[in-house]
Amino acid sequence: MASILIQFAHPALQKSRVNSALLEAASGLDKVTVCDLYELYPNFLIDVELEQAKLSSHDIIIFQCPMYWYSVPALVKEWFELVLERGFAYGEGAHLLTGKKVMLAASFGGMEADYLGDPPNVIPLDQLISPIRQTMQFCKFNWLPPFVTFDADRADASRMTSLDAVYRYILVGLRDNAFGMDALNPLVPINHQLTLQVN
Ligand SMILES: Cc1cc2nc3c(=O)[nH]c(=O)nc-3n(C[C@H](O)[C@H](O)[C@H](O)COP(=O)(O)O)c2cc1C
Repeated sequence: MASILIQFAHPALQKSRVNSALLEAASGLDKVTVCDLYELYPNFLIDVELEQAKLSSHDIIIFQCPMYWYSVPALVKEWFELVLERGFAYGEGAHLLTGKKVMLAASFGGMEADYLGDPPNVIPLDQLISPIRQTMQFCKFNWLPPFVTFDADRADASRMTSLDAVYRYILVGLRDNAFGMDALNPLVPINHQLTLQVN
C-alpha cells in the first residue's frame, strides 16, 4: 500500500463546508496522514526541514484547498517557494521526489461551465492550474488529474455525501494502486473520470 500525505490548507476553516467535510471523510483512512498547514503555520513560519521529511516519507502527496482568486491559498504558495528548494526538489543530485505522485484537490465557487474558457473566466481549468502542474513536474513529481469540486458553495447534503464517498474511493484506490493511471487524462478532473465506478 502506498502512503498518502494530505497537505490541507484553508485560510478560513471556520467557514468551510466542502473542504472540512472532505477532510473528515479522509481522516482515519489507513495509510493516509492529514496535515492542516494553516494550523501548523498560522504565522507562515514554515518548518522547511520537517516539510521536506514529510515529502520524503510519503508516496503520494495531495494538496487540498479551496481556490481563492484563481489560485491556491497564500500559504500553499509560500510552502512551494520555501520547501521545494534547489538540491532537494530539483537541481543536481535531487532525486527524492522523482516518481512520487501528486494531486491537487481543489474546490471552486464557480461552476464547471465557468471554467471552459468563456467570459468572464477566459482561462479554462487546465490552464488555470498549469503553474502548479508545471511546478510539480519540474520537481519530477508524477502529476495526477486533479480532484475538483465545482459550485462548492451550493453543495447540498446529498451532494456532500456523494463527494465524500468519491473522495474516499479515490484516496483508497490511489493508496492501493487500484486505478490504471495510464488510462486517465491528466487534464480532466479525476472525480469526473472515476465517479461512475462508485455509483
Ligand atoms: C477570497 C475568496 C476568493 C475566491 N476566489 C474564487 C475563485 O477565484 N474562483 C472560484 O471558483 N471560487 C472562488 N471563491 C469561492 C471558494 O473557492 C469557495 O467558497 C470554496 O471553494 C468553498 O469551499 P469551502 O466550503 O471548503 O470553504 C473564492 C472565495 C473567497 C472567500
